[in-house]
Amino acid sequence: MATITNTIQSTIAASERIFELLDEEEKPIFSGQATKYNANAFIQFENVSFSYNNIHSTIKDIHLEINKGETVAIIGSNGAGKSTLSLLLLGLLTPSKGKILINGMDIHQMKEHEKLELFGTVLQEDWLFRRSIRENIAYGSNNNQVTDEAIVRAAELAQADYFIRNLPNGYDTVMNESSSNLSEGEKQLIAIARAVLAQPEILVLDEATSHVDKEMDERIQSGLQELMKGRTTFIIAHHPSTLKNADRILVLDKGEIIQEGSREELMDQDDYYEDFLFQS
Ligand SMILES: Nc1ncnc2c1ncn2[C@@H]1O[C@H](COP(=O)(O)OP(=O)(O)OP(=O)(O)O)[C@@H](O)[C@H]1O
Ligand SMILES: [Mg+2]
Repeated sequence: MATITNTIQSTIAASERIFELLDEEEKPIFSGQATKYNANAFIQFENVSFSYNNIHSTIKDIHLEINKGETVAIIGSNGAGKSTLSLLLLGLLTPSKGKILINGMDIHQMKEHEKLELFGTVLQEDWLFRRSIRENIAYGSNNNQVTDEAIVRAAELAQADYFIRNLPNGYDTVMNESSSNLSEGEKQLIAIARAVLAQPEILVLDEATSHVDKEMDERIQSGLQELMKGRTTFIIAHHPSTLKNADRILVLDKGEIIQEGSREELMDQDDYYEDFLFQS
C-alpha cells in the first residue's frame, strides 16, 4: 500500500508539471518581414547581456564578430558562461540586452525552420531518441531526401561507421531509454554524423567535458575536422587539441571576453591558460 501511495503521489507531481507545460504560452512565431540591419560580419553579437535570474548577469555586454568560414574557439573555466553563449547564438535563450545578427538578420525574427536549416549542433548533452541509430543520424535532415547510403557516408566521415558496424544490429540498433547502450564518445560521434548529414551553414559545438580515451579523442577530432570544412564554426573547447584548428580563440571569464587572439598570440601573453594552450 505504501509503495502504491508513493507511486500515485509522484505521478500526480509529474502530471502537474505536464499540465504546467501544456499551459505555457506558445512562443510567438514571427510572421512579419524580418528587418535587415547593418552588419559587418556574418555573425554579430551586438552588446549582448543575459541573466538567468534578473539578479546577476551570466553574459555581460559581449561584442563579437565572426566572419563567414571562420572557426572561433571559446575557452574559460567551468561556469564562465560558454554554454550560455552558445544557447544565445542558437536563439534558444533571449538576450536581456543587445541582439544577435546573422547576415544582418536578428535571430529572433527568423522562422524556426530557417534556424533549423542554418545551424548544426553537437552539444555538451546531446540527446538521442529511443529510435534506431539510422533514424538518429537522419534527424534534422530532410527525411524524404535521405538515403541509407548518405547516412552511412556521413557516419564514415564522422568516424562512427566502424563502431556502428560492430554493434549486433548495426545501424538498426535501437537506443535504450537513457542511451546507455553507447559510450559518451560514441554518442558524440553519432551527433557529429547527424551534423555532417544535415550540412548546416553554421556549426555550434560544445565539446563534451567527459573523459574520452586517446583513440576516441582522435576519432572525434578527425570527425570534427571533416565536419568543420568550409563552415562557420563556434566551438567551445574543453580539450587542448581542438584549439589547433581555430582561427581565433576567445577567453571567457565570468561572462566577459577577457582575451582574444590566435593560439600563438595567446601563448605570448602571460596568463593561466598558458598550460592549456601549450598542451595542444
Ligand atoms: N538553466 C539555468 N538556470 C540558472 N542558471 C544557470 C542555468 N544554466 C547555467 N546557469 C548558470 O550560469 C552560469 C554559466 O553556466 P554555463 O553552463 O554557461 O557555463 P560553462 O562556461 O558552459 O561551464 P562548463 O565549462 O562547466 O560547461 C553558471 O553559474 C551556471 O550555474
Ligand atoms: Mg558548458
